[in-house]
Amino acid sequence: MAQQVRGVVARGKGSPVSLETIIVPDPGPGEALVRIQACGVCHTDLHYREGGINDDFPFLLGHEAAGVVESVGEGVADVAPGDFVILNWRAVCGQCRACRRGRPWYCFDTHNAEQKMTLLDGTELSPALGIGAFAEKTLVHAGQCTKVDPTVSPAVAGLLGCGVMAGIGAAINTGNVGRGDSVAVIGCGGVGDAAIVGARLAGAAKIIAVDIDDRKLETAKRMGATHTVNSKATDPVEAIRGLTGGNGADVVIEAVGRPETYRQAFYARDLAGTVVLVGVPTPEMQLELPLLDVFGRGGALKSSWYGDCLPSRDFPMLIDLHLQGRLDLGAFVTETIALDDVEKAFDRMRSGDVLRSVVVF
Ligand code: APR
Ligand code: ZN
Ligand code: ZN
Repeated sequence: MAQQVRGVVARGKGSPVSLETIIVPDPGPGEALVRIQACGVCHTDLHYREGGINDDFPFLLGHEAAGVVESVGEGVADVAPGDFVILNWRAVCGQCRACRRGRPWYCFDTHNAEQKMTLLDGTELSPALGIGAFAEKTLVHAGQCTKVDPTVSPAVAGLLGCGVMAGIGAAINTGNVGRGDSVAVIGCGGVGDAAIVGARLAGAAKIIAVDIDDRKLETAKRMGATHTVNSKATDPVEAIRGLTGGNGADVVIEAVGRPETYRQAFYARDLAGTVVLVGVPTPEMQLELPLLDVFGRGGALKSSWYGDCLPSRDFPMLIDLHLQGRLDLGAFVTETIALDDVEKAFDRMRSGDVLRSVVVF
């Protein structure tokens, strides 16, 4: 039987979100009903609310979530009721060329739940990133669920569903940071800070944090940066080279998404170094570079999609490291809030002094 639960809905472009009663159907074939225990507030939710992603209002917001599977539909074998899971944006097919080559984030045939959750009047909801987890329960494709150690705090676990995984994965998966490497991270918001944590986990010797905001650089230091550069005051390329014996960093991670920071990342890498692009540019942005510099410095220019992660491999591994005290995912949780405080959390996010507000149920 379909259930009624409370959820945070964005009804129209720019209007404040509202806490509403929503109807969640029983899981159909391949689907899972998840009782949400925690869900982080991410910039992408704010983008949805402001109409910056698409116009498919009303949205059921929330997508960085963990919870317990309540029931599953026909044919679901990988998760069962009672399992503690982290949700990800889409189930991958496992069959296409991208999946077969171990790059599921480029999968050509991804899935979310087929059935729609609705408002009381029957209006279909668009779940943010195919999840919609600012709700007591949500319906997803079972392949969006990854089981992890249930002794972890849900508020911490949910973070791996989005920005924190993107940043850690940019360092350990895409950048392939190695022991003793020098790493520069340009842009120290949630994603950049997670890249710093990833670089530290991988054994980087030098981790240079670059930002235009001194408060962000303070946080970056707490996350494990060994050096900080305020790029408003100092040329970051010169500073990074200066801190690496005149060479540049082995791996430079760009976590802003602007032409000038792409350029800085490009020139701050050592000969044969790697540039990892995590910051997402807008369609209008262009960058002109001398081809001889592209050619002459060698190395690799890579973009990182969701940290190039394999949820089934990376989620349980990172949760285990956290539980062992070797990775402090708790450092990303600035505050825990109630479901009806999401709008206020958006305000605090805009002011820039919160890493993550996490709704706990
Ligand atoms: N140089 C250096 N840092 C900058 C600059 C700049 N020119 N402009 C902005 N920043 C810093 C901000 O001060 C902030 O600390 O970049 C950081 C961006 O952080 P957030 O806004 O918190 O964004 P975050 O969630 O970390 O995402 C960063 O990664 O996944 C993508 O879409 C996401 O493009 C976004 C990027
Ligand atoms: Zn997110
Ligand atoms: Zn696929």
